[in-house]
Formats: sequence, C-alpha cells, structure tokens
Amino acid sequence: MSGTRPLRAVSRESSFPEWMRSVQAQVEAALAHGLPSGEAIPARLHRAMRYASLDGGKRVRPLLVFAAGELTDAPCERLEVVASAVELIHSYSLVHDDLPCMDDDVLRRGRPTCHVEYDEATALLVGDSLQSLAFELLARADIGDHGRQLEMVRLLARASGSCGMAGGQAIDLESVGKSLNQPELELMHALKTGALIRAAVLLGALCGDALSIPENASLDRFAKRAGLLFQVVDDILDCTASTATLGKTAGKDAAAEKPTYVSLLGLERARELAADLQTQALEALSQFGERRRRLIELTEFIARRKF
Ligand code: IPE
Ligand code: IPE
Ligand code: MG
Ligand code: MG
Ligand code: MG
Repeated sequence: MSGTRPLRAVSRESSFPEWMRSVQAQVEAALAHGLPSGEAIPARLHRAMRYASLDGGKRVRPLLVFAAGELTDAPCERLEVVASAVELIHSYSLVHDDLPCMDDDVLRRGRPTCHVEYDEATALLVGDSLQSLAFELLARADIGDHGRQLEMVRLLARASGSCGMAGGQAIDLESVGKSLNQPELELMHALKTGALIRAAVLLGALCGDALSIPENASLDRFAKRAGLLFQVVDDILDCTASTATLGKTAGKDAAAEKPTYVSLLGLERARELAADLQTQALEALSQFGERRRRLIELTEFIARRKF
C-alpha cells in the first residue's frame, strides 16, 4: 500500500456526499494498488479479480470502516488497508453468490457477472484468491500493535467463514422454498450480510485508540442493527426497484423462492422494520457525541439507498 495518500480523506466539515466520494476514491485507489496487475501471470485470473473488485459497488463496508474510524481517531493509512480487506471479502462473496450453483445471476454492478464475463472455474478461483488477498493485506498492514492486529485477522476470518457470511449463505441455500419464522430469518440475514458489516464497523474502530468496554458494547449493538438493516433494505429493493437501477436482476428473491423480510412480513411491515432498525442503530451511538456524525449519515444512506 502506498503511504503517499493524504492522512484524512476530507476535512471533518465536508458534506456527506463529499466525504463519501472521497472515501470511495481512496478505497478504489487502494484496491487498484493492492490487487495484482492484470499483466502478472496468471493474467486471466488477475484480470478477473480486478474485474470483480474495481470500478463498481457502493463501497458501503469501506465507508463503515472509515466512519467507525472517526470514533477512535484512526489514521487514514490503516483505515484504507482494512477497508480494502473487508471489501475484497465482500467482492469475493458476490462472485460466488452469483454462480449458477448459488443464485445463478448474470448481472452484477451493471455488468455481466464474473462467471459470465470469464467462466465458472475462473470465478471460483477469483473468489478464493480475493479472500486470500484480503488476509494478506490485513496481515501486512501497519497496525502498530501485533496483538491487536491478530485480533483483527481473527475477527475478519470469523465474520467470513461458516459462523459468518459463508454460514449464512449455506442457510440461504437450504431455505429455498421454505418459509422461515422471524428469528430464523434474522439469523440467516445476520450471518450472510450482517457479519461482514459488523466486522467492518469493529475493524474500523480497532484502527485507532482503544474504546472502553461499554463503548465497545454500544458500537457492537449499532453494528448488528446496521447489518440487519442493510439486508432488510436489500430484500425490499429486490422487489421494488428496477434491474436498471439496481445493476443486478430485480425480482430474483421471489422468483427463486427465497425467504425474505418481504415474503415474511409484506412490504409495509418490512419498511417499518427497517425504520425501527435504523432508530435502534442510532440509539446505540448516543454516547459517542460529535464523533458519530459519519456513522449517523451512513446509516441514513443505508436506510434510504435506491440501489
Ligand atoms: C449486495 O451488497 C449483497 C448483499 C450483501 C446484500 P451491496 O449492495 O453492498 O453491493 P455493492 O457492493 O454495492 O455492489
Ligand atoms: C447475498 O445476499 C449476501 C452475500 C453474502 C453476497 P443476496 O443474494 O440477497 O445478494 P444480492 O441481492 O444477490 O446482491
Ligand atoms: Mg444470495
Ligand atoms: Mg444473490
Ligand atoms: Mg438480495
């Protein structure tokens, strides 16, 4: 990672859209730098890794890393490495999620999915390689304290694996055609999407000064609510937004008989739940004063996003 980028993405006074664009650009540059060149052998795999990771996506998890880093005055160089690692895991999860053996999708971020643009075996290896690269970046980051760095590696591994994202994806696939009750659906969502979002928040905070035990507990409560909120909104958008707006095929959940908050509660109650989760998430931040500003704005963005 280059150490030449500015320490703060933008000043604290900047508007949310300015802050968001700046973090997105910074993470895009860090990813472009951290990924192997498309010329390096095996070039086709490396080009496919870059295709799946660069120039697309809202970068919500990196934004969460940076916003949580504001709570602990975390240095920007650390945040960008950690944000890149989390986003690489996320990009890998999307490549595998779209495979024919999973959701069988042909459109992602407004472009053909990785296995359509390349081929299935390459897409499988892209996922494997993005996951390994995420841990390589995190392991070689300059976090300052090796004990804390090891804890961060453990946290990201746990959030990605069978007790986190991959486990949630397994429940998702097992649940096709079934109707889950609300606690079962909440567990599936908390794992498949919530775990990585929670990790993004906690890892961002871990890049800076230590939080107290009560502050950590509050931040964790925020992160869990925000993670669930994110997937409830994803479920709502799947049945309310167009394919053109989403950049991925709309209406897939109903067509594939996936249990979602919309199939369980209906659209109106799913929207009410999203509003409740947003309120609960923000309540958990009350003790952080001015430092919570970007997290509040980002929660609003997650709740109101159109794609
Ligand atoms: C989509 O995530 C997959 C889910 C976990 C719901 P995003 O909506 O964050 O996708 P990108 O990264 O912006 O494309
Ligand atoms: C995917 O959930 C969660 C992941 C771990 C990638 P979805 O299957 O609902 O995500 P989209 O709607 O395809 O982006
Ligand atoms: Mg899926
Ligand atoms: Mg999917
Ligand atoms: Mg979805």
